Amino acid sequence: MTKHMSPVTQDGTFRSEILNGLTMDRKVISSKWLYDDVGSHLFEAITELDAYYPTRTELSILERYVKQCSRLPGARGALVELGSGSSRKTNLLLDAFPDLSVYMPIDISANHLKDASERVRRAYPSLAVIPVAADFTQPLGKLPLLPELPVLVFFPGSTIGNFEKSEAAELLKNVRIAMPEATMIVGVDRPKDEEILIEAYDDPVGVTAAFNQNLLQRINRELGATFDLASFAHRAIWNAEESRIEMHLESLSAQSVSVGGQEISFRKGETIHTENSHKYSEDAFTGIANQGGWRVLDQDCDGHGWFSVYTLQAL
Ligand code: SAH
Ligand code: AVI
Repeated sequence: MTKHMSPVTQDGTFRSEILNGLTMDRKVISSKWLYDDVGSHLFEAITELDAYYPTRTELSILERYVKQCSRLPGARGALVELGSGSSRKTNLLLDAFPDLSVYMPIDISANHLKDASERVRRAYPSLAVIPVAADFTQPLGKLPLLPELPVLVFFPGSTIGNFEKSEAAELLKNVRIAMPEATMIVGVDRPKDEEILIEAYDDPVGVTAAFNQNLLQRINRELGATFDLASFAHRAIWNAEESRIEMHLESLSAQSVSVGGQEISFRKGETIHTENSHKYSEDAFTGIANQGGWRVLDQDCDGHGWFSVYTLQAL
């Protein structure tokens, strides 16, 4: 164990998942591992890029949408946020719903979560802020008990799109089991021109490339691996059949890398698949929500039809 490891990875899950993914026929690493301290900061930098439309588009929808949500029971109770990151979008809800008394952000990036929670505490001193550093793809039964309050779940950013369709439905099901009475507000990115999508995930400034490559640096830092960053290139591909952007790291030569004491060999051109970012039409997302046991109460999107915000309630 090294001093760089976050509490979430100290149990050896990181090592076993990375080695498992790198020894598969098609090498793959879950996108949740993109978010160590450095990765979380790089993601924040992505959200500031002109090319990365989702953050500003979702914010523009939420600015007007939250007004009509004030009647939801959860708006006077506890706000639970999945993948809260820097909690930047949360302010919109906290300002619109002054009767919220509890805020529980859940995120795998433990230090980033701690800093963001401190900022929320300082800005909203009467709010009970209960950060939970956890992997929300695991059953949520071990969450700290919430007081007997109505719950509003906030799941912005289209992070739901980073999961396979079946995993997304399973995740929504786990949320429903843990918080059956809750109302949920979910941000979901929509299909659009391939050019716009590629520009957003392979930005001209190179921040997304750095975000993707940080995964290799993280493996070097935490598992003492020997990845040479210059030998792996960031790739963003539109997979039309699956309606998703895929991020890969492509090996630029035939090479062998030591990872956690194992030699992993790469062919020239072979990739590690590091992220999926599904883009869902209203019908496609409604199907996934229904599979997870939720019905769509309401939906809003921006003028271009680029991004949607949904309100869900248990079926
Ligand atoms: N909600 C923010 C941040 C989105 S980035 C926004 O909309 O801008 C995705 C966030 O989800 C990151 O902070 C990442 O650390 C977190 N995350 C990704 N997978 C996770 C998982 N399996 N469990 C918990 N948090 C996760
Ligand atoms: C967090 N998630 C929804 C982002 C996305 O757009 O899929 C992560 C990201 N990957 C590359 N750029 C941003």
